[in-house]
Parts: sequence; C-alpha cells; structure tokens
Amino acid sequence: MGTFLTRFDMDEFTALTRLGSHATFRGGMAKASSPKHLAVIPGDGIGKEVIPEAVKVLRAAALAGGRDLAITEFDWGADRFLRDGTTLPPDAIEMFRRDYDAILLGALGDPRVSSNRQGTDILIGLRFQLDLYANVRPCVLFDRRLTPLKGRGESDIDIWVVRENTEGLYASMGGFFKKGTADEVATQEDINTRKGVERIIRYAFDLARRRGRKRLCMSDKSNALAYGHDLWQRVFRQVRSEYTEIESSHMYIDNLLLQMVRDPSQFEVIVTCNLFGDIASDLGAGLIGGLGLAPSGNIHPGRVSLFEPVHGSAPDIAGQDLANPVGAVLAAAMMCEHIGWGTESRAIETAVRAAIRENKTTKDLGGSLTTRGAGDWLANLVASS
Ligand code: NAD
Ligand code: IPM
Ligand code: MN
Repeated sequence: MGTFLTRFDMDEFTALTRLGSHATFRGGMAKASSPKHLAVIPGDGIGKEVIPEAVKVLRAAALAGGRDLAITEFDWGADRFLRDGTTLPPDAIEMFRRDYDAILLGALGDPRVSSNRQGTDILIGLRFQLDLYANVRPCVLFDRRLTPLKGRGESDIDIWVVRENTEGLYASMGGFFKKGTADEVATQEDINTRKGVERIIRYAFDLARRRGRKRLCMSDKSNALAYGHDLWQRVFRQVRSEYTEIESSHMYIDNLLLQMVRDPSQFEVIVTCNLFGDIASDLGAGLIGGLGLAPSGNIHPGRVSLFEPVHGSAPDIAGQDLANPVGAVLAAAMMCEHIGWGTESRAIETAVRAAIRENKTTKDLGGSLTTRGAGDWLANLVASS
C-alpha cells in the first residue's frame, strides 16, 4: 500500500476543510487539464464527518492523476442558521453558475431546527434554482455479503434510480386555511409539467443507452393520480417509441417497491417522480448494504451539478466517528465522472470495492474502522493507484 498522501497531509487538509466559511485549498500538480473548482458544503450532523473523508479521497485521486483542484468550503447549515439566520445567500446561485464546476454536499437536518428551514432553503433551493432536474441514485451491490436479501448476489442488484428533482410534491405550492383551528385545511400541490416529465424520462433513457442497459421501468401511480400521472403515462408512451432498443415497461409504485425486494434483478433503470424516487432510493440503499453506501448526483447535463450521499445527517450517530463515509466518497466519484475525470472516478470506486472486500469498513458494514479510519484507508489506496 502506498503512502503517497501522508497522515500529516490528510490531517492538515481535514482541519482545513473544517474551517469556517469560504476556506479555500488549492493543490495538485497541474498537467494538461485546466483546474476544477469545487464547492464543498458539509452541512449538518454526519455531513460534517463524511465530507472531510470524501474530500481527502478526492484530493488523493487528484494528486495521483496530476489534476488541479481548487476547493472552497461553505459553512452553511444549522449552526450558521442558528447563529445569524443564513441559509442559502441570495447571490449563491449566480456564484455557483459562474465560478464552480461542481458542488459536494454532506447532509442537512438538525433536531434543533424543527422546521428544517436550512435544509429546505439550501438543499431544495440548490436543486430547484440550479435546475438540477435529474437525481441519479445508483443502487449497486458491491459484495453479496452486504445484501439482506437471501440468495442474491452482485449480478442481481445493479439498479439506477432516476428521480425527477425539480417539481412534483416538492414544488412547495400549497398553503393553510384556518390554520390551527378545528376546521383547518392544508394543501400541497403536485406539480407535473410536460417539459419536466419529458426531460427526466428522456434523461433516464439516455442514461440507459450510455451505460449499455437494456431495460427501463417507469413507475407512477396513474391508477389513482388521474391527472398528474396521466401526463407521465402519455409522455412515457411518446418518448419510449424513440428508444426501441431498450425494453421499457411500467409499474405502479406500490408494486415496484415490492418487486425491488422480491426480485431486484428485473430492474436496470427506474425513472419516477420526485417523492417516489426519494422513497425508492432509500429502499434501494437497503438492498445494497445500507444508507452508508449510497451516492447520488443532482444533475443538469452540461451545467454545475451537485453530488451528495443519499443519507441524511443521522443525528443518532453524529459526532461519534461512526458514520460510513462511503456514500459521500462514491458521490465524489460520481462528481469526478461528471467533470470529465473518468480515471479518478474509477480509481475511487475500485478502492471502495477493495475496502469492502478486505473488511476495511465502518461498523454498519461489520468492520471496525472509524469514519476517519475508513477515509484514510481509501485515500491511501487511491493515492497509490
Ligand atoms: P438518515 O439518513 O439521516 O438516517 C437514517 C438511518 O440510517 C439512521 O439510523 C442513521 O444512523 C443511518 N445512517 C445514515 N447514514 C449513515 C452512514 N453514513 N453510516 C451509518 N449509518 C447511517 O435519515 P433520518 O434519520 O430520517 O433523517 C435525519 C435528518 O437528516 C433529518 O433532519 C432529515 O430531514 C435529514 N435528511 C437530509 C438529507 C439530505 O440532506 N440529503 C437526506 C435525508 C435526510
Ligand atoms: C434526500 C432527502 C431530502 C429529499 C429531504 C431532506 C428534503 O430525503 O435527499 O433524499 O426528500 O429529497
Ligand atoms: Mn431521502
């Protein structure tokens, strides 16, 4: 095992990434490629523990590949919100579009903020305002020991959940009538636009094509949601006719979740609406060994996009050096792929597979490493790749 990145280097960098707002680190050996500018938002709870590990591994990959990487950290999250009310500053969207190639985020959510105001403003704010319409959540089983499903192996679970990410029930349209009274009414509108539905279905078909997948399943609840999901049905019929080489099917969401557990091998790419995709991706994470392993990309092709683990801030284990950093590390690998660093992306994924094979994991996967220990192991392996 290589020791290219020393323990001292890693600690120094980790300390730097824990500094206050806008701490910037520049490093790497520039070769032919132009520098990439990465914004890092660790956020709340275990986000603040897993993101330094993901950054450590990313830095190791960049150094090994001779890439130039400039990182700026933003201290947005519950602490900052409670201190001075800041969530997503008004100029943030323009700044990310102008100055950054990608954003890496940990998680948002803190028991002290019951409204989850900072979570909604920052996470949903970035997804919606940067128009990151495709939430791509791969559920890939790296080792058969990790699935709770009896008799299932690596070839059975390789599912890419493509979740619509800019509308649906997350559009935050609705309101209260007679709030707080016995006659109270609360509405929450489900927004489905032809443009939004068409672009996500098309994205999923293109992803299937790009990754050589043969099957795609669109999931909705059109038997009950007769307007919004009727639109999904009609758009799906239209778009699928353009991708005849891909076997496409439809399943209602309740049956889809059952079938994912009963026989996950029937799925390759799943495309669904915002809320159903949120739920299906947590179930998918359960099939591959838990939330600690699942990465995601919030993507608008060709634009600055945001990468994050699927999991939340996990207040139940926060601050104990217990969290599995792999979801965040694999999110960094997805980010590398998005910015054109294919070699670095593969090096990170290879290291994760090795860690799992050799039991160099955190407790949730049966290993004995801490969050930092697992990050160090991965960074060292990537550094020597
Ligand atoms: P959660 O994902 O934080 O945790 C669910 C369970 O999985 C917990 O038992 C937790 O300990 C475990 N877990 C999660 N990540 C893990 C990891 N890396 N290693 C080991 N175990 C891990 O979901 P929750 O408890 O429903 O939500 C907690 C907070 O996070 C809430 O405020 C919620 O709104 C927020 N949240 C944020 C995001 C996000 O920022 N993307 C996603 C989900 C939840
Ligand atoms: C996720 C989370 C978020 C979502 C919450 C925190 C708003 O569960 O990223 O999966 O529902 O999208
Ligand atoms: Mn979720």
